[in-house]
Amino acid sequence: MLQIIKERRSIRKYLSREVEEDKIISVLESARWAPSGNNTQPWRFILVTSDEMRTKIAHVSHQQRWMMSAPVHIVCIADPSPRYNSGKGPAVQENSPGNELKQAIRDTAIATEHLVLEAENLGLGTCWVAWFVQEEIRPVLNIPEDKYVVAVITLGYPEATPSPTPRQKLEEIVYKENWNESLR
Ligand SMILES: Cc1cc2nc3c(=O)[nH]c(=O)nc-3n(C[C@H](O)[C@H](O)[C@H](O)COP(=O)(O)O)c2cc1C
Repeated sequence: MLQIIKERRSIRKYLSREVEEDKIISVLESARWAPSGNNTQPWRFILVTSDEMRTKIAHVSHQQRWMMSAPVHIVCIADPSPRYNSGKGPAVQENSPGNELKQAIRDTAIATEHLVLEAENLGLGTCWVAWFVQEEIRPVLNIPEDKYVVAVITLGYPEATPSPTPRQKLEEIVYKENWNESLR
């Protein structure tokens, strides 16, 4: 598992090769089995393969044109509505307050990284994309305004695998027992 985690890179150049349906299902299945607070499973995914929709998504993602080379986009959406008694929450934006929303985003991020790692496990490449504005990306995909788009995951066979990006050392990010005690 650690090897798969370490080998994952953000892929921004894809082959035009189609991704097999069973692999897409495995990737989505791995997200379905993610843990979530109170098992609310507050995530939804939109599988996008059409040129037209991928172009629109890249456009609202600050024109990141490289996204169009990925044959598949998986739009990962936090849906806090199961956490509201009324079944629908308030409209959400980047700066929305609210604990319910934060928890739904947390859980959706877990599920999203599950699918990223399963894609790596299957020899596929991915990249998290979150450089977009809710009010621009939601209408493109007909997503209601009480949902929050956490990420678009580009998916496909990598054309090239970039070198690893740097990471902080363990002793820089891990404390022992409390915030004041470093690991070593
Ligand atoms: C929440 C999130 C949002 C990101 N958004 C973008 C993006 O909009 N465009 C992009 O090219 N990369 C994006 N990335 C990829 C990061 O730049 C990349 O993960 C980071 O530089 C580390 O490189 P690595 O993934 O190859 O290890 C995003 C990553 C995360 C986790």
